[in-house]
Amino acid sequence: MTVREARGLGHRAAIVGAGHTRFGVLPEGPRALLRSAVTSALASVDHGLDPSQVGRGYLATLGFGGWQLGNASAVLAEELGAPGLATVRVENACASGGFAVQEAVRAVSSGDIEVAVVAGLEKMTDISAARRRYWLGVSGDTEWERQAGLTFAGVYGLIASQYLARHGVKPEALAEVAVKNHDNGALNPNAHFQKRITREQALSSPKVADPLGLFDCCPVSDGAAALLVARAETARRFTDAPVFVDGLGAASDYLAVQERPDLLGFAASRRAAERAFRSAGCAPSDVGLLEAHDCFTIAELLALEDLGFAPRGRAGELTVSGATRRDGRLAVNPDGGLKAKGHPIGATGVSQAYEIFLQLRGSAGSRQVPHAERAVAHNVGGAGATAAVTVFSVG
Ligand code: COA
Repeated sequence: MTVREARGLGHRAAIVGAGHTRFGVLPEGPRALLRSAVTSALASVDHGLDPSQVGRGYLATLGFGGWQLGNASAVLAEELGAPGLATVRVENACASGGFAVQEAVRAVSSGDIEVAVVAGLEKMTDISAARRRYWLGVSGDTEWERQAGLTFAGVYGLIASQYLARHGVKPEALAEVAVKNHDNGALNPNAHFQKRITREQALSSPKVADPLGLFDCCPVSDGAAALLVARAETARRFTDAPVFVDGLGAASDYLAVQERPDLLGFAASRRAAERAFRSAGCAPSDVGLLEAHDCFTIAELLALEDLGFAPRGRAGELTVSGATRRDGRLAVNPDGGLKAKGHPIGATGVSQAYEIFLQLRGSAGSRQVPHAERAVAHNVGGAGATAAVTVFSVG
C-alpha cells in the first residue's frame, strides 16, 4: 500500500485518451498539427467522448516564430470541434506542456468540470535559420545572458564541462544517453530521428558547444500531442484502462543562470520532484519508468540526480550500467526522449504524458517497457527556470 492510499487519498484525475502527430520537419502548419493530435485523442477514447463533454481546454505553446502569439488557445476549441469552449494558453517555454497537463488535472480534480483537453503544439521549422536562433533564445534571460550571446546549447555546454570536471565523469556517459535514446527512437514511428547511432558517432560528432556535440543536442522539430483528462471517479465511463495522475509538483528558479549558487543541478526540478513524490505518497524507488527532459544529454544526467534516482555525480555510472535502458530497472525515455523523438517546445510535456499513457496501458508496441506500473514525467523550461514533475500510475 502506498502512503497516499494509507492516508485514504484517491487519484487526482485520469488520462482517458491521447493523440500524437509525428515529430520532425513536417509540411503541415500549426492548425493541421493541432487538429491531427486532438482528433486522434478523441478517437482513442475506448467508450467514446463527445467534444461537447469537454469543460475546458489548455493549449501549451511558445508560439515559436510568432505564428499566433495572442489568443492561440481559441484555435484549440475550433480544432476540437467545440467552438465556445473556455480555453487558455499555458506558456512556460519548454515546460509549457508539463504545466498545462497539471492545470488540466487541477481543473478536473476540483470538481469544476468533468473532462479537460490539453494539447501541446509547436511549429519550428518554417522560418529562416536566423529567426530560429532568435526564437530559441527568447526563453533565456533576455536582459544579460542573451545579449552576451549565450544560447541554450552554450548554457548546457558550460554545465556539462563543469559536471565532467567536478565529478570525474568521462564524455562516454553523455554518449551513452545519446545512444540509448536513439535506440529507443528507432522503435518510435512518431520520432524525429528513427535511426540508431554508435558510441563512436556520438563522441566524434561536430561540436556545438564544447563538450556537447551534435548528438548531445535535441533537434528543432514540429509536432503536436493531445490528452483527454477526466475526473478519476468517472474515468471508467470513458475507458476500462485509465492512467491515473497521483502526484503533481512544480517550481521555478532564478531565470538567469548567473544568479544561481550552483550549476550542477536544477533547484526547480528538485523542488518539483519533492512536491510530486510527497503528493503521490511514493518514492523514486517505486518508479519503473521516467520520461526525463533530455534537451541535451547532460540534462538527462542532471534529471536522474535532481529527481532522486541517483546520488550527485553518479547518474553517468547508472546510465553506463544499462539500468536506464528499456529493459533496465528504471526505463528512461523509451520513446527516444527529446534527443531522438524531437522537441517541439510546447508539445514536449504533453508528449511525455502520451508515452506514459501508452506504456502503462501496455500498448507501446515494440518499445514496450516490461512491468511498469508507476511512471514520472519531468519537464523543464529552458535551463531550469521552471520545472513540472508529475506522477502517474495504473491505479
Ligand atoms: N541530433 C542529430 N542530428 C541532427 C540534430 C540533432 N540534434 N540536429 C540536426 N541534425 C541533423 C539533421 O537531420 C541534418 O542531417 P542530414 O544532413 O542527414 O539531413 C544535419 O544534422 C544538419 O541539420 P541542420 O538542421 O542544418 O543542423 P543545424 O546545424 O542547423 O542545427 C543544432 C543543429 C544542434 C544546432 C540544432 O538542432 C539545435 O539548435 N538544437 C538545440 C535546440 C534547442 O536549443 N532547443 C531548446 C532546448 S532548451
